[in-house]
Amino acid sequence: KQEERTNLYELMGSANEFYQRQLRYHDAKQAAVDYLKNRGLSGKAAKFFNIGFAPPGWQNLQDSLANDDESLAAMVTAGLTIKNDQGRHYDRFRNRIIFPIRDVRGRTIGFGARTLGDDKPKYLNSPETPIFNKGQELYGLYECRQIRQPLKRFLIVEGYMDVVALHEFGIHYAVATLGTATSDTHLQKLFKIAPEIVFCFDGDEAGRRAAKRGLELVLPIIEDGQQIRFMFLPEGEDPDSLVRKEGKDGFELRMQDADGLSEFLLQTLKDDIDDPASLEGRARLAKLAAPLIKNIPGIALRSLFWQDLKEHTHIDVDELKQLAESEAKP
Ligand code: GTP
Ligand code: MN
Ligand code: MN
Ligand code: MN
Ligand code: MN
Repeated sequence: KQEERTNLYELMGSANEFYQRQLRYHDAKQAAVDYLKNRGLSGKAAKFFNIGFAPPGWQNLQDSLANDDESLAAMVTAGLTIKNDQGRHYDRFRNRIIFPIRDVRGRTIGFGARTLGDDKPKYLNSPETPIFNKGQELYGLYECRQIRQPLKRFLIVEGYMDVVALHEFGIHYAVATLGTATSDTHLQKLFKIAPEIVFCFDGDEAGRRAAKRGLELVLPIIEDGQQIRFMFLPEGEDPDSLVRKEGKDGFELRMQDADGLSEFLLQTLKDDIDDPASLEGRARLAKLAAPLIKNIPGIALRSLFWQDLKEHTHIDVDELKQLAESEAKP
């Protein structure tokens, strides 16, 4: 088992080197180089993130790395090669920009791959493998720690390109989930390294939904001493597009204005209440918020949330707590 894992790390490392070589030497590299240039990526950033190119064709990687049935089978396990129903093997990533995903020790464990054009899917990721667990890993975490330790803050963004663009503009604390939702394991992992996490989702419907999921995820796990904030981008923008328009200072200025957890919670609940300032509206806010606040593990934080809810509803904290008990009953 351990031997298999060692093997897979080696294989992923070789694939990583292969893809990087193709970006420099393959006959078809120009399309990829132009694509990266058009997106404003410097050679330096591409190198720092080990960005590569999977050339067009069905068996480039296979021809380079597989020398027998055993190694071919390992490539399937690694998610690099796909075996179809007829038993034929072909490369998973073709004609795509390759973003290697590294673990905290710098070992390549998976890839994210973006089409150069409008093919679907836009991003194709490695599947889960014995060494790649998407609910645990974050793109850019290894790179952030290369630049600076200790870190005082992480910014969680949606995409690979967002992490790379922010890095290019001097923001070296951005990480991205791997085409999956943020998990509590992700947050625990980041909180072990830094006390503050800022969520930054795209200014689109998907981004707003993800922010609400983030809220539900955070409330039952936040401890005293940890800080979570939510940053919202203008409609149609993502961190990549915005930092290119506004630069590091502009971006960080917006980050300073990010909502605190309590502010975002109460605002989100109020958004679903017709007249949140009315007597009935405040009662409804109390009814919705109390059971959520009751479950916050941080004692000091929970107490402060009760105070906040009191200010918004004009209901005493003791009564809010009673309400939480009765709401919690089935
Ligand atoms: P660019 O168009 O390259 O700027 O990508 P983006 O990161 O801005 O993409 P978008 O905002 O559409 O999506 C955010 C993230 O969701 C991406 O970075 C991917 O990780 C993931 N994602 C987007 N499209 C797909 C897809 O088709 N399949 C999968 N598996 N993930 C996707
Ligand atoms: Mn988006
Ligand atoms: Mn984008
Ligand atoms: Mn985006
Ligand atoms: Mn605000």
